[in-house]
Amino acid sequence: MEENVFNQMAKKYDTENRKELANIIADEIKKTLAGKQYHSILDYGGGTGLVTFQLADQFEKGWLVDSSQEMIQVAQSKIEQNQLKHFEAMAFNLAKDDRLDIKADVIVLSLVLLHVPDIEPLLQRLNKRLNTGGLLIIVDFDKNEKIQHPKVHNGFTEAEVKDALSYAGFRDINKHTFHYGSNIFMKQDASLFIATSTK
Ligand SMILES: C[S@@+](CC[C@H](N)C(=O)[O-])C[C@H]1O[C@@H](n2cnc3c(N)ncnc32)[C@H](O)[C@@H]1O
Repeated sequence: MEENVFNQMAKKYDTENRKELANIIADEIKKTLAGKQYHSILDYGGGTGLVTFQLADQFEKGWLVDSSQEMIQVAQSKIEQNQLKHFEAMAFNLAKDDRLDIKADVIVLSLVLLHVPDIEPLLQRLNKRLNTGGLLIIVDFDKNEKIQHPKVHNGFTEAEVKDALSYAGFRDINKHTFHYGSNIFMKQDASLFIATSTK
């Protein structure tokens, strides 16, 4: 999906359904982070921050980066309203430009890769933004043949995720499905996976 679609959607993005799904995703990410000590987080494709602001108090420093300027504006106003002084929101597209000066202990991509045509180069660039010993967390849809859209991946198989992450230099790759929902992926029933990998 083009970033301008998200520019158009930004002010209306936070619907009850999206908030509900974001809560489920944030809870799963919290489970993944439980008992681990990380200092900084980069939420790449973080949108309006529905997921990442729920994790904000677990980190000393956070960046929310998104290619849509309008989504970033919504995220920025939440940062100000909630006085999240340790969080920065930034409009940037790493798929188009490699000059992003951020390194984090944890990188999260929640429902982003499905919108990225060529995922391996982006994952390679994200690998460079992860501190050694850091954790990459991907949440996305499992492969779903009912979905056909010219600009959106119809989810990912385990092999696709593992191959792309290995190619991009990640190791210790794990993936599991954690949620089944009605009408959650282009009006179809679908399931969500979480994949973790380290550098
Ligand atoms: C479905 S939204 C998910 C937002 C947020 N991660 C969440 O889970 O609530 C996808 C987001 O990815 C962003 N996006 C898509 N392609 C991107 C790219 N190449 N670089 C950065 N952000 C991108 C969009 O602008 C949009 O905000």
